[in-house]
Amino acid sequence: MKSFPPYRIQVVKEIPITTRQEREEVLARAAYNGFDVPANKVTIDLLTDSGTGAPSAAQEAAAAGADRSYAGSDSYYRFREIVGELTGHPHVLPVHQGRAAERVLFGAVLGPGRISLSNTHFDTTRANVELTGGEARDLPCPEARDLDSLDPFKGNIDLGELERTLAGPDGARVAQVLITITNNGGGGQPVSMANLESVRRMCDRFGVPFFLDAARFAENAWLVTQREPGYEQQTPREVARRTFRMADGCVTSLKKDGIAPMGAFIALRDADLAQRCEANLIATEGFRTYGGLTGHDLERVAQGLREVLDPNYLGARTAETAHLAELINEAGVDTVQPPGIHALYLNAGRLLPHIPAHGFPGHALACELYLAGGIRCAELGSLYLGEFDAAHNLVAPAPFELVRLAIPRRTYTQSHLEYVADVLSAIAKNPEQVPEYRVVDAPPVLRHFNLRMRRLPANR
Ligand code: F0G
Repeated sequence: MKSFPPYRIQVVKEIPITTRQEREEVLARAAYNGFDVPANKVTIDLLTDSGTGAPSAAQEAAAAGADRSYAGSDSYYRFREIVGELTGHPHVLPVHQGRAAERVLFGAVLGPGRISLSNTHFDTTRANVELTGGEARDLPCPEARDLDSLDPFKGNIDLGELERTLAGPDGARVAQVLITITNNGGGGQPVSMANLESVRRMCDRFGVPFFLDAARFAENAWLVTQREPGYEQQTPREVARRTFRMADGCVTSLKKDGIAPMGAFIALRDADLAQRCEANLIATEGFRTYGGLTGHDLERVAQGLREVLDPNYLGARTAETAHLAELINEAGVDTVQPPGIHALYLNAGRLLPHIPAHGFPGHALACELYLAGGIRCAELGSLYLGEFDAAHNLVAPAPFELVRLAIPRRTYTQSHLEYVADVLSAIAKNPEQVPEYRVVDAPPVLRHFNLRMRRLPANR
């Protein structure tokens, strides 16, 4: 039997339909930077799955009953109860979004010369490590380097590298191990329970705290029940609870698996560390019972956390992404395998072999998706991850030229995703017509948000 989403649509929002001519003008005005395209000129927005999910009636009803008290609001106690039950950690701090949680936690744990080890740091996570003066090192497992391999847990950290680093000359400077579930920077791939257990043992052996970046904890838990022997009979909630309890704490953006427009939390086992984080939280985010969130946000995320672990929801969402992957693969466009849940990562380098790294195949494909179909998505290739000289020439390309199609939660129907596959199929019929791009101007930090690009003439 086919799975289907366990909800019906009750409130809808119109989406903009534009012409190719209009999109050509909009994209040129935005200097070929999708972040500068107004959302009212985007038909299907696959830029991110963050803060873009559709709320349930229960979330909006809870928000309407929110308590706005500055200190000790009912909304906070409801939030704390659900987060405490999920994570098992006694210290829970609300924060306005994931990167604020990172800043607060890393400010208390890291510092100049200290090292953070991860399967892959997400970009804001890396930035927040570096802002403390620390160093972020990614140790993805070797299977992650083969985009086509069907290995079920390509989000794992490389345990051999982890042990060598902890036991080696830099070991004394390692201040945390941070595992991102699912591994967004690494193709949205899950991390196995076996890998997390090994990390736990190694962190105990070397006396290093183990944290999770748990933005997509529910999706990771679901994939464990589907892919890891021994977990077939467990519910995603059981797996998620066990996952959180394995670590010493977490930073969790709730804009993803909290299915909310805003919110995050830090949960910690250690009282001392929690106290240091709390001082920073009060100074920079808000009092410990709201942390930069309104009562409405606290209610929405608390209810979202109740809904997100529903196996019917997770199963349908997984099937939706897998269906899109199948259609795209049939059209001759390869995606990072196996498909995850929150996004598909297109192998633009392979689809557009005529475009060299310095012509940015990922960016070219993302622009083409917008021009051909009003679809917005993000490049994850040399433009984002490569190294540039002062004149904006690419000097070291990224290992892969990818494009991420992120799937907002409960937002688009199967026919919207089939439309995306149709647009991509049309592009894949004549890939050599997709032109190259060049960087005109780029700021030294957070390059991809503020880029200005130009398009070279196509080979028509
Ligand atoms: N960690 C991971 C793994 C993320 O994917 C994100 C955000 C963050 C932390 C930061 O959380 O946005 O609440 O401050 N990812 C979004 C994305 C932006 O599109 O992947 P935030």
